[in-house]
Order: sequence, then C-alpha cells, then structure tokens
Amino acid sequence: MNFQEKFVRNVRLYFREVGEKWLEELPTLLEYCEGKWGLTMKNPYELSINYVAPAIRSDGSEVVVKIGLPGVEFNYEHDALIMLDSSGVVRLIDADRDHGVLILEKVSPGTMLAELEKEDKVCQIASEVMKGLITPASEGMNLPSTKDREAELALICKDHPNQFGPFLTQTLKRALAVFTYMNKTMVDPKLLHGDFHHYNVLSNGHESWIAIDPKGLIGEVEYDLIQFLMNCLPKDGVFEVIESRVEKFTKELDLDLHRLLLWGYAHSVLSSVWTVDEKTGDYNKVFSQCPAIFEKLYQKEFQHTIVDFLEKRVP
Ligand SMILES: Nc1ncnc2c1ncn2[C@@H]1O[C@H](COP(=O)(O)OP(=O)(O)O)[C@@H](O)[C@H]1O
Ligand SMILES: [Mg+2]
Repeated sequence: MNFQEKFVRNVRLYFREVGEKWLEELPTLLEYCEGKWGLTMKNPYELSINYVAPAIRSDGSEVVVKIGLPGVEFNYEHDALIMLDSSGVVRLIDADRDHGVLILEKVSPGTMLAELEKEDKVCQIASEVMKGLITPASEGMNLPSTKDREAELALICKDHPNQFGPFLTQTLKRALAVFTYMNKTMVDPKLLHGDFHHYNVLSNGHESWIAIDPKGLIGEVEYDLIQFLMNCLPKDGVFEVIESRVEKFTKELDLDLHRLLLWGYAHSVLSSVWTVDEKTGDYNKVFSQCPAIFEKLYQKEFQHTIVDFLEKRVP
C-alpha cells in the first residue's frame, strides 16, 4: 500500500521505530475499521502524522476515520472530543482506544479556514469558533495543562545549555520564566482545544464553522490563540498582521492583552522548538520570528520590556 510521502516521513521522524511498525500495520488497521464499522474507506486527506480519510457506511452516509498511534496523546484527543463544548467541536461517533481509531462526523464541505484569504473574515470566524469551544475546566479532567508545557520547556533548557535550533538558551530561559509567572498567576483555567489554528477549523456549510483535532489542554483562552496567531502569515508585514489579529481577538473575546502577549512570547518559543529537526538542524523559520514580534508588540503596548517586567523593574 502506498502512503503519502510526507506522512511516512513525519511518522518516522516523530515516532521512530514505533512509527515504522505502525505504518506496517496500517493496511490491517484499515481492514479492521472496515469490518468493525461496516465501512468502505476512501482516499485519505492530506496527512501529517495521523491517517485521516472519509468512509462510507453501509447506509450510504459518510463519516471520517482518524487513526493515530494508540497512547496517551490519542486518549487526550478522545477525551477532549467528549468534554469540549459540543457547539465548537466536531461530533464524535465512536472510538476504539486500543486501536487508536476515532469515527467522526464528516464536516462538509470541510473547507479549511486556511483556504480563506480575507484576514478580517478569518479572525471573525475563528473568534466565533473559539467562543463555542470555551469550556469550564473541572477537577476530574485528566488532561495536560500549561504547567506541563512549562515542564517540557524546562527539560529542553536543561538538555541544551547553549543553544537549541534558532534560540540561545538565554531566550529559552526567558520563555521559561514567562511560563512560570503565567502559570503561577493563572486565575480562570479552561478546557482548551490545544492546537487551534487555520487548518483545524473547517466549514460546516451555511456560514457555520467548527474545530477538529483537539489536543485537550487546561489553561487560559489567551494561550489557546497563540498557535493561531503564528499560522498562515504573509511573507512580508508579519508584525502588522500579528498586531491586527491580536487587536481583533482581544476585542472579540474580551481578552487580557497583557497576558495574551506574554503567552505569545512563551508559547512561540516552545512551538518553534517543537519544529527543530535535530538530525538536519532545520526548523520553522516563520515561527522562530514570532518571539521577537511578541516582545516588540509587548513593548509597544506597555512601554517596558518583558525582561523589565520579569525582573520587576516596572512601576
Ligand atoms: N471530521 C472531519 N470532516 C472532514 N474533514 C476532516 C475531518 N477530520 C479531519 N478532516 C480532514 O483531515 C485533515 C487531517 O485531520 P486532523 O484531525 O487535523 O489530523 P492531524 O491530527 O494529523 O492534524 C484535516 O485537515 C481535514 O482536512
Ligand atoms: Mg490537524
């Protein structure tokens, strides 16, 4: 069976031997899904690290089958699909944790928000979808939080005492200090999507849009928007686009601008680091510009630097 080249490369890069084994088992898994749910699988979508394809049920209706590596991350996505406010996220039809399978409602026409061009419209849609997603966090939610993201960055700092990818360790440590401050002062954590961006928001027809692919994360709404701010940026004028997105979201969602920009700095460092390929040294060049942009925006808004704030040199 021939799988998409990029998909195979990504699975090997992220999951190494385990991923290789999973790729070998994938044809059998597809047959398993056809048998268990009485489906006919169709050609997959453009894939990254999960196998996602539409399928036809015996009654002729369509669903989407998402197959991932079984394990904690798969389980978090499954839990998030159950717990997130149903008005913002795709409907889960069934799941099989042992085999890493989700059966989802097919979103039609399924146009990705990334395919729309007008920034104003895109931000307005994203704000509406985000409003529908916001879910109060409760005690029993066994999901990772932004404290786990902080711990992840702490480990990266420890393992890379000089530099990692595009950043000197000084920058990594500054981002870590922001994570620590933000987590300590968090007042109203929510259940978040965890990977909210233009490729995970699809058109459901009739001007209605919905999120797919939640990772499940406990934290502040301001945090959940950063990945969106960093995606689908133009070649030139990146600063201005991020500035205008920040302004729109802050207004639409009644956000705390100070916290949004601090999360912007901290998360953009972490998510740039996620893209570093240690073998080749490659990393996402657009993402890696973002920490400096959030720093500049912060300074423009508050007339002092993030370092001044962290070191309590501001009034
Ligand atoms: N429920 C769905 N309805 C329609 N298309 C979907 C659905 N779920 C996923 N897709 C398509 O499959 C692609 C990959 O799915 P996604 O869940 O985002 O996987 P990944 O976790 O690998 O990013 C999406 O970008 C979208 O085009
Ligand atoms: Mg996705």
